[in-house]
Amino acid sequence: MSGKRVIMAAGNWKMNKTPREAVEFVNHLRGLIKGSSSEVVVGVPFVCIPGVAEAVKGSDIKVAAQNAHWEASGAYTGEVSCGMLKELGVDYVIIGHSERREYFGETNEMVNKKARAILDAGVLPIICCGETLTQREQGVTKEHVRYQIKVALLGITAQEASRLVIAYEPIWAIGTGKTATVEQAQEVCGMIRELLAELYGKDVAERTRILYGGSVNAGNAKALFDMPDIDGGLVGGASLKPDAFEKIVRHDA
Ligand code: 13P
Repeated sequence: MSGKRVIMAAGNWKMNKTPREAVEFVNHLRGLIKGSSSEVVVGVPFVCIPGVAEAVKGSDIKVAAQNAHWEASGAYTGEVSCGMLKELGVDYVIIGHSERREYFGETNEMVNKKARAILDAGVLPIICCGETLTQREQGVTKEHVRYQIKVALLGITAQEASRLVIAYEPIWAIGTGKTATVEQAQEVCGMIRELLAELYGKDVAERTRILYGGSVNAGNAKALFDMPDIDGGLVGGASLKPDAFEKIVRHDA
């Protein structure tokens, strides 16, 4: 079990659902997850945020954006600032997702700047990391993930580090139906916690939540979340269906 850390079930919808579909989904979900002990987060497209933020009012569902720019305002066509998201009631912003790294050139340095801006706006980052299949086969998973997280956290204080969330998502397990074994997932999440202890001390490391992502579903959530250093999941495909997502939220039931 994960001690005092509250398990987080965070959906990452990616580029799915229209604003209307998003509100319908959340209206359904809020009844389904009542009384659960997990923290429930929906990571929705920008255009869905106003409707979803309104629809979750009075419920236990939190809202995440899937990206943000690090500047507060300015000539950055197509971008959205952390202050804009904060005003809409966003609680978390997912940054450094492998899809953003691969398709949109997001670097570790950009992830670091985004983390800083998100925290400065009073929102919390969910910082993603993870290795490719090649890197796993080369035996450099640990080095790669350590490097990603170390750079992402440059200048982040201990107090901030204890509140943000890290998501370990091996790229070969995303959308492939090929979940990491609980041992593989635990090994890397445990290593991330060791890194946090090195950077910030043991107390902080014990408070920071570390999620696993990559083909999490109703059938494997409990075994993953029961591992000592896995504090929940960042869920893609299975977060798009209310019933499947509810089962992940209630993995212990
Ligand atoms: P899947 O759960 O669809 O594998 O996606 C994982 C993911 O990328 C969550 O951010």
